[in-house]
Amino acid sequence: MRQSGKVVRITIIGFGNVGGCVAEVLMRRREAFIREYGIDFRVVGVADAKGVFVSEDGIKWDILRSFRERHSISRNTDMSALELIEDVEHDIVVEATPTNLKSGEPGLSHIIAALRASRHVVTSNKGPVALKYDELMNIADAKGVQLRFEATVGGAMPLISLIQNLEGNEVTAIKGVLNGTCNYILTRMYEEKIPFEHALREAQALGIAESDPSQDISGEDTAVKLVILANAVFHMKASLDDVSVQGISEITPEALKLADDAGYTIKLVGEVSRERLEVAPRLVLKGDPLDVRGTLNVATVKTDIAGDITIVGKGAGPKEAASAVLSDMLKICTTEKLR
Ligand SMILES: NC(=O)c1ccc[n+]([C@@H]2O[C@H](COP(=O)([O-])OP(=O)(O)OC[C@H]3O[C@@H](n4cnc5c(N)ncnc54)[C@H](OP(=O)(O)O)[C@@H]3O)[C@@H](O)[C@H]2O)c1
Repeated sequence: MRQSGKVVRITIIGFGNVGGCVAEVLMRRREAFIREYGIDFRVVGVADAKGVFVSEDGIKWDILRSFRERHSISRNTDMSALELIEDVEHDIVVEATPTNLKSGEPGLSHIIAALRASRHVVTSNKGPVALKYDELMNIADAKGVQLRFEATVGGAMPLISLIQNLEGNEVTAIKGVLNGTCNYILTRMYEEKIPFEHALREAQALGIAESDPSQDISGEDTAVKLVILANAVFHMKASLDDVSVQGISEITPEALKLADDAGYTIKLVGEVSRERLEVAPRLVLKGDPLDVRGTLNVATVKTDIAGDITIVGKGAGPKEAASAVLSDMLKICTTEKLR
C-alpha cells in the first residue's frame, strides 16, 4: 500500500456548487487517490467573485468549507482570480464559474490565462468551450497541456470519454436526450397527463428547473452541448447559429396522448452529425434506448464498426459534474508527467 503520492497542485476558480463539490471529494478521497493512483491532490488556491484564498502547501478542509459556505473567512482582496492562475505555481486549474453564452467570460479569460501559463485545465463551464473551442485547443497544443471538459456535455455520463475510447471507429452521429430538466418535464406530462406549465412549476419547486428555465426549455442548453460535440468530435467549427433549435413549451398532454396511443413518447432530442445539427421534440418508440425517464440523460453514439453504443446517466447536478471533473483530472495525471 502506498503511503505518499506525487503532489498535484490544483486551483479551483469558481467555488460554488460544482467547485465546492470537487474540493469536498478531493478531501474526502485524498487517501484513496494516493493509494489507487499514487496522486496527492492539494488545493493551493480557490477563487469566487469576492476574492481568493491561497496556501501553497494546500488549503485545509475547514478553511475550504468556510470559504464555500461564505463565512467570514478573509479573502485576499488584493489578488484576482487571474493573478492566482498566473502567479501561484500549480498544475491543474479547475474552472467552474457561471456559464456565459455571449462572451464566455469570466471563464474564457481564466482558461486562456491558465493554458498560456502552461497549466492543464478542466472545466464544467460550457461558454468558453462552445464559443472558442479551436482557439483554446490551439493554445493548449502550443503549450503542451490538456484542456478537458467532460462535465460540459453529459454531467456524470462519460460521453466524451466513451467517444475517445472508440479509436479506430468513425463516429457518424450522436443523438440523445441531453437536458434533464426537459426530460423531467416531458416525463411528468406523459405520466400524469398534466400541462407543460404545471410540470415546469413542479420541476422548479423540486430544484430541477432553475427560476429562469428559459435556456433549458427553449432547447438552447442542448444546442450548446451539440456545438461542443460538433467541434470536439466532428471538427466542424460550429456555433450556436448553426443549430436548428426548437424547445418543448408547445408540447401538450394531448400530443403526448396521441403519441402514446401509437406506441411512442416525445423527447427533446439533440442530434449532431456532419449533415445535421438539430434540437427538437421528436417521437421516440416506447422502449427505445432513448426512452429514459425523469432527469436522466442518454446518448447514442453511432459508429461505422462498433455500431450503436448507448450511454445513460445523470446529466446535471453538482455532484454529477464533479464526478466528470475528477475523472478529467485523473486522466490528466495518468497521461502527463506533471512537474
Ligand atoms: N450545477 C450543475 O449541476 C452543473 C452541471 C454541469 C455544469 N455546470 C456548470 O459549471 C459551472 C459552475 O456551476 P455551479 O452550479 O457551481 O455555479 P455556482 O454555484 O453559481 O458557482 C459559481 C461560482 O463562480 C464564482 N464566480 C463568479 N464570477 C467569478 C469571477 N469573476 N471570478 C471567480 N469566481 C467567480 C461564484 O462566486 P460568488 O459566489 O462569489 O458569486 C461562485 O463561487 C457553470 O458554468 C455551470 O453551467 C453546472
